[in-house]
This record gives sequence, structure tokens and C-alpha cells, in this order.
Amino acid sequence: MKLKNKTKKRALITGVNGMDGSHLADFLLQKGYEVFGLERRSSVLNRTNTAHIQDQIKFITGDMTDKNSLQRALKISNPDEVYNLAAQSFVGSSWTLAEQTTKVNSLGTLYLLEAIKDFNDQIRFYQASTSEMFGKVVERPQREVTPFYPRSPYAVSKLYAHWMTKNFRESYGIYACCGILFNHESERRGKEFVTRKITDGVAKIVLGIEDKIALGNLDAKRDWGYAPDYVEAMWLMLQQDRDSFFKNKVGDFIVATGKCHSVRQFLEYSFQHVGISNWQDYVVQDPRFMRPAEVDYLQGDPTKAKQVLGWEPKTSLNEMISKMIDNDIRLNSK
Ligand code: GDD
Repeated sequence: MKLKNKTKKRALITGVNGMDGSHLADFLLQKGYEVFGLERRSSVLNRTNTAHIQDQIKFITGDMTDKNSLQRALKISNPDEVYNLAAQSFVGSSWTLAEQTTKVNSLGTLYLLEAIKDFNDQIRFYQASTSEMFGKVVERPQREVTPFYPRSPYAVSKLYAHWMTKNFRESYGIYACCGILFNHESERRGKEFVTRKITDGVAKIVLGIEDKIALGNLDAKRDWGYAPDYVEAMWLMLQQDRDSFFKNKVGDFIVATGKCHSVRQFLEYSFQHVGISNWQDYVVQDPRFMRPAEVDYLQGDPTKAKQVLGWEPKTSLNEMISKMIDNDIRLNSK
């Protein structure tokens, strides 16, 4: 189908109300895009992350497991770019929700790619791939060519979507690009994830609301970056010259800081920010938060993103922790 005459670029974001979706919407609106956001129907809409821009986003009701709703979303938005950020993204729940995780993350991506191929194969497509695909890592740091070894139903589901995206690029010439993003966090992170659980817990301890944080494995190591920095990399991936993208087989990108810290260190830095050095007194380990199979060590090598896209992370781990804790102190003081 031919694109209509358009003045503004149009982007469709799935998972627009999530942490990444909302930061990307902020970014694209600032760039002058017309932003369409796919959101699930719910009796109570969850627009906490997009409340400040909800008048500027054109919301479309849809679901990754409903092909027709995706086709409809493409017709309504007629986008130049589609960012697939919708997912069951919590690794911990993927063992108990393996089927739903697969339907949303794997089949949902397939449905969206098929809908794009049929509607307009010139649409540029971004797939949210993940460092979880490296799982039980076979190389340190992990690069674009490092073999995968997924360790959770979540990681397996994302690996399917990753390969399907590559396959649509190679089979049908669709400009489809996967960002292999390492952990990235922000003030908008859900409280089930370890970083926000810690920053919210520290805020509650400082304010005298709670006296302990219950956690699982403190020895896991992650490469943590700041989500607003990472959405810029997503956008840059879709802005390359089309001919050279295919001719040079540019492919997919690692997005990471290159630095690795343990959950234990994250705790130490977080308590340091509020002037507490004996952080061990405020943390208990709870087997409920241990995982059946753990990913022990993730550290990305972002060299390719720097060389090809000119992208570099801007925010340090300690800066990010400070922003998150200050925000959680403010929210918990209300
Ligand atoms: N959530 C959680 N809660 N994690 C804990 C806890 C706890 O109480 N205690 C220790 N951890 C450990 C986990 O076992 C894991 O090793 C690490 O902290 C990070 O856990 P999460 O913050 O839940 O993130 P994740 O690494 O499993 O997954 C995130 O990053 C991926 C990219 O690598 C998610 O955002 C995924 O969607 C994303 O793909």
C-alpha cells in the first residue's frame, strides 16, 4: 500500500505505557513525530508513565495476541516506523506464565511482522531483543556475535522473536533491526524489578515506612544503563541509509554501558546515596525471590553501536541511582 502524503514522520509504539514505551514516546514527540501507541483494553487504564503526554499520543486499543487488532493499528497509524516494545518482560514470572510469555513475546512479534509485510513492507521495524538471550554466557563481554544460551521461558520467547525479525529482514527485505538491550532502568521502572525494588525500599527505610528489603540472589551481575539514553539508540537504529543497511549487512546492535556490577554493589551504592553504610542490616534474603535458573553475569560490548550509530550512554550508574532514589523519596512522601 502507498503511503499517504505526510508532513510529520509517524511512529507506532507497542507497549507505549511501559517504561521504555513512555521514554521513547517522549523522545519521538520531541523529534516532532506523530506518535501512536498500542495499549491493551483494561477497565482501569494504566497510563502512569504516559500521563504527562497522553494528550499528544494517539492511543489505539490492541493486543499482541490478536492479529486483527495489529492489522487495524497499522491501518489507523500508517506508520513509517514501528517499535515493538510490548512484552511480558518480567523474567521471574515467565516460569509460571510460560505460555502467555510465549504468546505475547514470540507469536505477537510474528503477527506484527506479518501484518507489516502485508500492509507496507517499507515500514522500518525495531524489535526489543534482550541480553537475557545470552543467559549462561559463553563469552565476556557479550558481543553481537556471541552465541546465545537462554535460561528462562522469557529468554527463549525473546530469542524466537529475535530470529524471526532477522528472518523477515533476510526473506522479505524488510528494514527490521533488533536492539539487544542490556538491563536499563529509570524512575518509571516497575517495582518488581530489582533496581526499583531497591530504590523504593531505600526511600521507604529513610522515611521510616519500612525497615527491611527482601531480596533473592545478591551475587547476580548486570550491566545497568539508563532507559532514556537507550531509547535514543532504538531510534538511531532505524535512521540508517536503507541501501547501506542491507548492502553492508548492518544487522543488530548491542546497547549497553560495558560496565558490570552485582546486586550487592547496587545495594551498597543506593544506601550510600542516603548516607547509610551498614546496608546489610536492612536487607534480608528470601528464597521466594530466587529463580529456578539464574543468569549470573551480563556485560555488553557496545563498540558497534558507538562506531556505526555514534551512540554512547550518557548517564552513570550512580547518577541513575540518585535520580531513582530521589524520585522514590518524593513519591513516598506524598
Ligand atoms: N526482580 C528481582 N527481585 N530480582 C532480584 C531480586 C528480587 O528480589 N533479588 C535478586 N534479584 C536478581 C535477579 O535474580 C536477577 O539476577 C537480577 O537481580 C536482575 O533481576 P531483574 O531486575 O528482575 O531483571 P532481569 O535481569 O531478570 O531482566 C531485566 O533485564 C533484561 C535485560 O537483560 C528485564 O528488564 C528484562 O525484561 C530484560 O530483557
